[in-house]
Amino acid sequence: MTLLGETATTGGRKGGEGEVLAIRGGRALRGTVEVLGAKNLVTKAMVAALLGESPSVLRDVPDISDVAVVRSLLEVHGVRVEEAGERGALLLDPRDVESAHMEEIDAHAGASRIPILFCGPLLHRLGQAFIPDLGGCRIGDRPIDFHLDALRKFGAVVEKLPSGIRLSAPRGLHGANIHLPYPSVGATEQVLLTAVRAEGTTELRNAAIEPEIMDLIAVLQKMGAIISYEPNRVVLIEGVPRLEGYDHRAIFDRNEAASWASAAIATDGEIFVAGAQQQEMLTFLNVLRKTGAGFEIREDGILFRRGGDLRGVTVETDVHPGFMTDWQQPLIVALTQAQGRSVVHETVYENRFGFTQALVQMGADITVYPHGLQEGPRRVPRRSLEQAAVITGPTSLRGADITVPDLRGGYSHVIAALTAEGESTVRNIGIIRRGYADFLDKLSALGADFDVVG
Ligand code: EPU
Repeated sequence: MTLLGETATTGGRKGGEGEVLAIRGGRALRGTVEVLGAKNLVTKAMVAALLGESPSVLRDVPDISDVAVVRSLLEVHGVRVEEAGERGALLLDPRDVESAHMEEIDAHAGASRIPILFCGPLLHRLGQAFIPDLGGCRIGDRPIDFHLDALRKFGAVVEKLPSGIRLSAPRGLHGANIHLPYPSVGATEQVLLTAVRAEGTTELRNAAIEPEIMDLIAVLQKMGAIISYEPNRVVLIEGVPRLEGYDHRAIFDRNEAASWASAAIATDGEIFVAGAQQQEMLTFLNVLRKTGAGFEIREDGILFRRGGDLRGVTVETDVHPGFMTDWQQPLIVALTQAQGRSVVHETVYENRFGFTQALVQMGADITVYPHGLQEGPRRVPRRSLEQAAVITGPTSLRGADITVPDLRGGYSHVIAALTAEGESTVRNIGIIRRGYADFLDKLSALGADFDVVG
């Protein structure tokens, strides 16, 4: 395995995204897959290494293109990044951090959303930062207003340019009182990565508390930061003048684990997800239990299987500890095989059901309500941007010619093609490498029948 493979040399722009799979479905997936560190922690912990005065070691780093993009951006800023012996371990040495050339940074435009998190660390290290236009999955507007408002409160001056954002901090960065309008994962990380070395104390209200954020707090504490949290999403950060490197094993990828769980259930197979842990997946497991799907929690992972007839369920996506938005796409494929009606309310992003069009093309019965569905008691407060999908099953799926739209939706297309009778052509699968390491090898090991045809 290489952590800087073909995908990385393209700066994450192409990453083999044109690849096409011919999938012959209708086979149960059986076997074991291993999940490594979470994409949504690893990439942030890599950015955190910029804040240290000494090298860091990050363990269980998956071989995905989002990691390659962040690695490459760190390297253009003078951070030395190399494999650190053990499989999946990266050494990040920030001792020679320097300003990067505009063209080098610009080469990363559109590749990922992580660069926005370079703002605070670069301001601390260099007094200025240039952040290219952001990429990431096209699943809604995904604005960065919370990020920029928070940075301004710390004292940053933000200048928007046609190709990105330039920031400076003429009077340094100072602790601030910040209340997020929504518990945004990225904005919470922005505040953490900026506040740890700002002068004075920062009080963050309405913070996101996802397990990956708790793991980032653990990383920052290892570096010397002082961060405490209180009930009701309040986080206090006491700024310190100096941070050192860390040695940290990343939390497992619960999104990847949920994807494999859904693949096992959709194809009526049985997959042991090595490395998956119960605590971080409680909400997902509760929903599986309501569908009647089977799971077995073991010390070193979780075994997932369909385990009999599936029942329809109602799911509302939400911030942690709610049902994660990234879990709904693979689960919907499994729900096409459930008896009766399922409803999925998407409350986090305003455009995350586009992938269902392909499932309908394959024979699924799914209706999307673009302005949400006003029915039944709700746990998650209704949001103006929400949508709902109603899935009626079971339906048999048949092979089709489909194109992957984004990371999670794309993986769902692959699962649907594996569930369907007949052959499917699945295009643009390179995008899946943004978040799923070695996924073709894993599919082969589980007995999937496919060829790479382009
Ligand atoms: N939002 C704003 N303004 C902002 C920031 C966010 O309005 O400045 C809104 C967004 O538009 C969205 C909501 O707040 O409606 C939540 O966005 P959040 O900031 O929490 O998401 P994110 O940090 O951009 C991360 C993950 C996503 C995951 C979400 C929610 C990373 C790199 N991405 O995104 O993961 O869905 O949190 O948990 O950590 C994925 O892995 O496929 C993925 C999309």
